[in-house]
Amino acid sequence: MKFNTEEINRLMHHRRSILPNLYTGEKVNDEIVLHMIENANMAPTHKLTEPWRFVIFKDAGLEKLGEFQAELYKKTSLEAGDFKEDKYINLRHKPAMASHVIAIGMKRDEKERLPEIEEIESVACAVQNMYLTAAAYGVGCYWGTGGITYVEEAKSFFGLNSKDRLLGFFYIGIPRKWPAGKRKPIGEKISWIQ
Ligand SMILES: Cc1cc2nc3c(=O)[nH]c(=O)nc-3n(C[C@H](O)[C@H](O)[C@H](O)COP(=O)(O)O)c2cc1C
Repeated sequence: MKFNTEEINRLMHHRRSILPNLYTGEKVNDEIVLHMIENANMAPTHKLTEPWRFVIFKDAGLEKLGEFQAELYKKTSLEAGDFKEDKYINLRHKPAMASHVIAIGMKRDEKERLPEIEEIESVACAVQNMYLTAAAYGVGCYWGTGGITYVEEAKSFFGLNSKDRLLGFFYIGIPRKWPAGKRKPIGEKISWIQ
């Protein structure tokens, strides 16, 4: 056996989504964050388009992200007539509860023109590599898709153009506790044909 499969199985089951309200406020070492991103870069990618793009926010960058997303939310929700003050405050302050926040982008490849869903799937594989690497270090993280994720005007702030996609935000922090995972049995989701 090339790898310790028992450890790998344990890691996959141990991986969790841990939200900023469970972070201690301590900083995660940049080297761990870079290691997570290096592993993300090894995700499967059809035609090697490598569509994942990451913008990493830390320190004062977290304030910039909070300000940007809160103000964009305010503008778009006032236009739509559904502005909520508590949501505005949450968007303004949530990034600063994390050690790092990574904006997750999908960059469209002009040459290959793969079905868009394949490029999104590839980015999701990259995110899973980040999740697993963080879990291996005992670092908390979660992929959030609320707030401004699907607001068209948000894209340019993250270096994305209209054909690209913003796919959410990856929050990273030191967890106060490690939640238990739960899933329905796999038997309900598979069928064998033989
Ligand atoms: C594409 C995607 C988007 C998600 N968006 C959110 C979100 O907006 N808010 C949230 O609390 N969790 C979000 N999650 C995390 C899920 O809620 C989490 O994976 C689920 O509760 C299972 O928990 P686990 O990851 O610890 O097993 C998202 C997960 C994925 C894969």
